[in-house]
Amino acid sequence: MTNKNKPFSIRRKVIKRISEEVATAIRSGCPPLVIVHGGGSFGHPLAKKYGIHHGFREETQLIGFAETVQAMRRLSGVIAENLHTSGVPALPLQPSAITVQKNGRIAVMFSEVIEKALAMGFTPVLWGDAVLDEEKRFTILSGDQIVSHLSAVLSPLRVVFGTDVDGICPTDPKRTKTRPFEELKRSELEMMTTRPSESGGVDVTGGMMGKLNEIISITSRGIEVVVTNATKAGNILRALLGGKVGTLVKP
Ligand SMILES: Nc1ncnc2c1ncn2[C@@H]1O[C@H](COP(=O)(O)OP(=O)(O)OP(=O)(O)O)[C@@H](O)[C@H]1O
Ligand SMILES: [Mg+2]
Repeated sequence: MTNKNKPFSIRRKVIKRISEEVATAIRSGCPPLVIVHGGGSFGHPLAKKYGIHHGFREETQLIGFAETVQAMRRLSGVIAENLHTSGVPALPLQPSAITVQKNGRIAVMFSEVIEKALAMGFTPVLWGDAVLDEEKRFTILSGDQIVSHLSAVLSPLRVVFGTDVDGICPTDPKRTKTRPFEELKRSELEMMTTRPSESGGVDVTGGMMGKLNEIISITSRGIEVVVTNATKAGNILRALLGGKVGTLVKP
């Protein structure tokens, strides 16, 4: 949804198309949805510039923390507006306002508001954010971790990760030509994460590696996960309707 190599660049056409696919999925009977988006070119550059992911070290970081939160509100604003235009009652819920971490993992998240909003027919929208931390004073909460936390709270039928590659591959497909796995078992994923892998762009949350670790925790709860290329038209729609596009990770 953004060009991660260029700070604050939005891929408007992609956001519009994905919003329309989400709307079509809901009209076609997709169960209630929670949307969590990543930091892309909005969160990562600021977080990196001020070292927010390392925790609080000096006063000058405070403005950086606040700017990171604000940049993410801007990105999520664009996403929510596009969803509204497509007819989806997207309700932005700022993670930093409902979450406290402890050493980089969620300690408290006031998820009651998410459950109540879902029950009313809203589509809650959350995002990777800069949040306060009991140990590190503040840090970065990845969208991937939010998904994993909410999976435990909400027990969804399926979790879909939309990214910019065709699925989970043996190695980074942006560096070497490889094809994605069609299907993986959790045990196979556990073996993969013992090998090093990194993000295709600037990513302080560990790129695909961080995602894989969250996917291991989601599938350990018996929930299936799909990792698909959201930059290709139709993939998000098909994945939301239960289709097989990209990599399917079986519990
Ligand atoms: N084995 C792998 N299989 C697939 N992708 C990989 C692998 N190793 C590294 N990657 C990289 O991980 C990237 C996806 O993770 P990244 O964190 O950059 O994006 P994202 O999580 O979709 O976006 P954001 O972090 O902005 O929310 C891909 O673009 C790819 O280059
Ligand atoms: Mg990421």
